[in-house]
Amino acid sequence: MASERLEVLSASSFSLDALTVLFNRGFAGYLFPVHMTAERLSHRIRTEDVDLHASKIALKDGQPAGFALLARRGGRSRLAAMGVVAEARRQGVGRRLLEAILTDARNRPGGGDRELRLEVFEDNDAARSLYEGAGLQILRRLVGRTWRFPIASPGQLELHDTPSWNQVVSAEAMDLPWQLEAETLAVLGAPARVASLGGKAWALIYESSNAMLVLRGLYINPEHRRQHLATQLITAIAAMHPGHAIHFPPLFPESMGAAFFEHIGFQVDALNQVEMGITF
Ligand SMILES: CC(C)(COP(=O)(O)OP(=O)(O)OC[C@H]1O[C@@H](n2cnc3c(N)ncnc32)[C@H](O)[C@@H]1OP(=O)(O)O)[C@@H](O)C(=O)NCCC(=O)NCCS
Repeated sequence: MASERLEVLSASSFSLDALTVLFNRGFAGYLFPVHMTAERLSHRIRTEDVDLHASKIALKDGQPAGFALLARRGGRSRLAAMGVVAEARRQGVGRRLLEAILTDARNRPGGGDRELRLEVFEDNDAARSLYEGAGLQILRRLVGRTWRFPIASPGQLELHDTPSWNQVVSAEAMDLPWQLEAETLAVLGAPARVASLGGKAWALIYESSNAMLVLRGLYINPEHRRQHLATQLITAIAAMHPGHAIHFPPLFPESMGAAFFEHIGFQVDALNQVEMGITF
């Protein structure tokens, strides 16, 4: 039998629907069920600055076997998602995809990217071992937190659309993971929205599903910290969403706001991520 052929090409040669099918096949048997839709994938591509031309598809004997989505902002890049179809795993497909992504990042016109980062669930041994083997190092732990039975206390909340998040955090330089950068949050659009208290305390409400309210941002203007405004803001948001738990997904650097979250009653989730990176 002729040896199997592995080709790596740009993901821009695939339709959004074909990419969606490959995404779901690549995430079969994942830590939790993944049901990507073309609409959600398009939303991720738009909000996370995924560059489809720089993203990769692997073909094994001419059949789609894996994908790697690459996001880019200036001289920084991020592996936004990658997956290999179950029947092609442990045959070097993931390694080839990652090599292609890293080679491109190093050799991009204008001197190449400065760094590449990604997030991976702590329990995903296969992916962590692949990334470590390629020279990526753990930068920090990203935790999720949930307040199951939040105290509700009505407050005078102002609601804004998501572009206002740009003004909220623009003054303070923060090293946040890609999905929490203002570039991501400001372009989310409805149903995401920004809630504030007196222009001093801000939260980004991402979505509400299954009696869970998901927040992606919490920011108190520096001059108004330690005045219980974060508590007032969260409890006022809880009052607007009776019966909902409040959840921050596992995207938040572990140390960020840790004392506040513990104090108010949030618990760290069971499934957390690490951010990994490599500089060139
Ligand atoms: C992670 C994943 C992409 C790896 O793809 P793959 O094609 O199977 O990986 P490769 O065959 O190229 O393996 C390269 C290296 O990765 C590591 N690796 C891959 N699968 C592994 C496993 N099941 N257990 C431990 N290490 C593993 C090994 O270091 C391996 O090198 P080795 O074979 O010399 O030991 C694949 O398992 C997958 O699609 N998982 C589901 C989706 C997912 O988790 N995506 C990553 C999200 S961050």
